[in-house]
Amino acid sequence: MPHMTAFARNQWYVAAYSQEVGRELLGRTILGEPLVFYRTEEDGTPVVLHDRCVHRRYPLSEAPTRLDGDKIVCGYHGFTYDTTGTCVYVPGQKRVPRTARVASYPVVEQDSLIWVWIGDPALADPQVIPRAKHLDSPGWTTVRGMEPIDADYGLLVDNLLDLSHETYLHGGYIGTPEVAETPITTEVDEGAGIVRVSRHMDDAECPPFYAKSTGITGRINRWQDIEYHVPCLYLLHSRVAPVGVLPEADGSDPGGFHTEITYCITPSGDGKVYDFWAVSRDWAIDNDEVTEFLAGNNRTVVMQDVTALNLLQKTLGTERHGYQELSINIDTGGLAARRILARLVEEGDKPMEKVQ
Ligand code: FES
Ligand SMILES: [Fe+2]
Repeated sequence: MPHMTAFARNQWYVAAYSQEVGRELLGRTILGEPLVFYRTEEDGTPVVLHDRCVHRRYPLSEAPTRLDGDKIVCGYHGFTYDTTGTCVYVPGQKRVPRTARVASYPVVEQDSLIWVWIGDPALADPQVIPRAKHLDSPGWTTVRGMEPIDADYGLLVDNLLDLSHETYLHGGYIGTPEVAETPITTEVDEGAGIVRVSRHMDDAECPPFYAKSTGITGRINRWQDIEYHVPCLYLLHSRVAPVGVLPEADGSDPGGFHTEITYCITPSGDGKVYDFWAVSRDWAIDNDEVTEFLAGNNRTVVMQDVTALNLLQKTLGTERHGYQELSINIDTGGLAARRILARLVEEGDKPMEKVQ
């Protein structure tokens, strides 16, 4: 049995980017639940319904299912549902059976992300959703994408919490020797469910990813500060600056380039995860060349991880007698994240307290 991390159901997960949800039906599977997404004509509110018609279970996200105003008309025999999932029309008879409804799910649109709640709707509190304001704020430019990976989502959590792999897997892109050589510090806020992993590199090689985009030519100070809000939102606060240039006491940072790298880690099903990635910057925001470079380059980096995790999942699946891992210092953050994830599952998915 390959590695399988249990799902914490009573949590918010990113299901899509705002721009992906519109008047075309979008199908996506979150924590094993098939869902269909669209926006109302009336005010553009996102709607999330179970993606199986109650009649013969035709997927409502598939043609020729269509929208009729804000109602969704099953493409097989025409059962018609309103935005709450209540069936309001069936063919050939006046009476609509009382049980004719599909589930609808709590949904919140915030920071250009569509968050859904799969668990008990009574526990869905939008206040606890962690923020990623840089994704949707003036003064920031963001490139983004989403890659589905055929791997347990715990493998993606491991991957993102330990950036020493940049040196090897992403050598020549964002990896330089200093990343793997520099020890990390890890802080865990158990109550809020946040894992912080920091690596501050002084006098480091500037990786091509940053040299090309910032124009820095010499060596740099490079800071990577991870802030993982278990289970879904991963923020990497990145700062690069020429050696010797440090932020002022008042917080201003004349020579520093700040980049916010965001990942949303959303389990799709067993052994499947959606990898939402975004790179936001508050420098050279109108420079299309930089935008194009960062979009292409980061996609390449993401695909290096995707390829590695697909391979890893396959490999783990061939272990006939189970297996053991060997963890070292670099794994501290990843192990803390696993511990919090396991606790969330165990505690019946108590939602995280509001942090800020
Ligand atoms: S399966 Fe949807 S109407 Fe028959
Ligand atoms: Fe990576």
